[in-house]
Amino acid sequence: MKPENITAGEIKKKYFEFFREKGHKIIKSESLIPEHDPTVLFTTAGMHPLVPFILGQPHPMGKRIADAQKCVRTGDIDSVGDDTHLTFFEMLGNWSLGDYFKKEAIEWSFEFLTSEKWLGIPIEKLAVTCFEGNSDAPRDEESAEIWMKLGIPSERIRFLPKEDNFWGPAGQTGPCGPCSEMFYWKGENTPKEFDTKDKRWVEIWNDVFMAYNKTKEGKYEMLKQKNVDTGMGLERTTAMLQGKKSIYDTELFKPILEKIKNISEKYEDRSARIIADHLKAATFILGDDKRIIPSNVEQGYILRRLIRRAIRHGREMGIKENFTAEISEKIIEIYEKDYEELSKNKKFILSQFEEEEDRFKKVISDGIKAAETVFKEKTPIPAEKYAKLMQAPNHEQTIEEIWTRKSQGKAYEIKEAEITESEIDKATITGKEGFLLYQSYGFPEELIIEIATEKNLLFHRAEYAKELEKHQETSRVGAEKKFKSGLADTSEQTTKLHTATHLLNEALRKIIDKNIKQKGSNITPERLRFDFNLERKLTPEEIKKVEDEVNNQIKKGLNVERSEMNVDEAKKLGAQALFTEKYGDRVSVYKIGNYSLEVCTGPHVKNTSELGEFKIIKEEAVSAGVRRIKATLK
Ligand code: ALA
Repeated sequence: MKPENITAGEIKKKYFEFFREKGHKIIKSESLIPEHDPTVLFTTAGMHPLVPFILGQPHPMGKRIADAQKCVRTGDIDSVGDDTHLTFFEMLGNWSLGDYFKKEAIEWSFEFLTSEKWLGIPIEKLAVTCFEGNSDAPRDEESAEIWMKLGIPSERIRFLPKEDNFWGPAGQTGPCGPCSEMFYWKGENTPKEFDTKDKRWVEIWNDVFMAYNKTKEGKYEMLKQKNVDTGMGLERTTAMLQGKKSIYDTELFKPILEKIKNISEKYEDRSARIIADHLKAATFILGDDKRIIPSNVEQGYILRRLIRRAIRHGREMGIKENFTAEISEKIIEIYEKDYEELSKNKKFILSQFEEEEDRFKKVISDGIKAAETVFKEKTPIPAEKYAKLMQAPNHEQTIEEIWTRKSQGKAYEIKEAEITESEIDKATITGKEGFLLYQSYGFPEELIIEIATEKNLLFHRAEYAKELEKHQETSRVGAEKKFKSGLADTSEQTTKLHTATHLLNEALRKIIDKNIKQKGSNITPERLRFDFNLERKLTPEEIKKVEDEVNNQIKKGLNVERSEMNVDEAKKLGAQALFTEKYGDRVSVYKIGNYSLEVCTGPHVKNTSELGEFKIIKEEAVSAGVRRIKATLK
């Protein structure tokens, strides 16, 4: 087969086949929502769910594993729409958990990329980077030598500093290490030298040699075991092998973009790409078994932002009817073969899109009413003058200049259109007014501009940007504070709450209803949050009974024990689990006395007597048929 005909599905299949041959077990993608790491909202890399095993806990599937992990990264959200950035992507990865290290990892990366049997990339099209070294970790000559022996010439090996070639930790603390990145030349005529600034060298794979642990104090300690963590971006690698300029030109996006084109009045490439990316991320977040819904906090907030941003870009392309669910259906069609949770949760996903789109429309129409009151107080610039101003080639700069001159106390009449100072003043929607609309109604800037233009008014964008920045500063400081205070003794307190979650799970079945199942869980150092199925509210008496039941188990001082077994054995023993693992997979199971048995990665306390007093602080509805309990330990 010609490399340019290869599909993403085939790359994935080859990757698994290759690493299976090298003694790896292939595992399923973990959830997008990290369960026991309060410092991040989403799984951002394949290694994230594997942290306990990199730190030394034995993995039930052994020391060599590989997978395709679904990831969400929102850090680059503003670059989405260019040729290489996405908020949702699949990461192919292989891991050594205290087994092989640099030599094998690099040799296998090289073999997979270049061998005719696998991807067959010509060596000339590859370049690599290695870690330059600093006071925390030495220069990585060893990796460079391995690459050279394999045939990568020294002109295409570069040593880069920590910002580029030291990966991790995924949160604030944890495993990390120097890395070696592989780049693919996407231009014509491959150059002999590797210029790391040339954007035609595209990073496709990263081998991280995780030998360090970053502590709370910011020190780098050696880990008990040496690990390898690798990450290959599936979308990018597919685009490169197919000779495509952009990730949006591959089969992972084409059908979605076509659908968007069909329903839009005026197609705009960048907007369509943003819609496709954001709705894909939103589909996967909604499709997760953790049942996240759009809201104003945590993951729900990001989900809401993604959906609403997509809707706004839809508006810009003249899409008037609800469209997000329809696009999501196309996305599910592309991915459901590999991610069965999407078909399982399809109804939920589509209905959430519909509801959020309706809600956003309502917000906009409430906002429009409020905006009308603001706009009514203004005096429009006479139509002829306004048209003249707007037709001036650099009218945006001209208007911008008016504000600058005004703030400097200078005259700011626009000669060309004969608009006077007072006319400008009376026609201006100030930055503060715009910001208030945004803050109270989520009313977007583009819409203010759109309406202002319709009404021959002006909008002070620079002042608006300043207001927005001031606001973001404050919330960032707030978030950082929260983050820091939460970090003190994070691990100990979250571990305790995690064990309490298992007790609560069992207590609900014993006291309330034997058919109760876990629907979601989230732990911060302050509290646990547990979602479960039940059609009704709990009574105060029931809440008290559940509390007493958990506290009784705590007082009994039950031992917590971990063991490993096959999925079928765990099922036979009646262990609680989502059971997304396949028959024959090995899993770790936690047993608390004879009270609770759950398939779980851990960590947990050794004995329930360590927990303190359990208290339920809230019981509420999350969605139809799902209740949520928040509880603390004192
Ligand atoms: N964890 C590494 C990355 O995300 C492989 O690049």
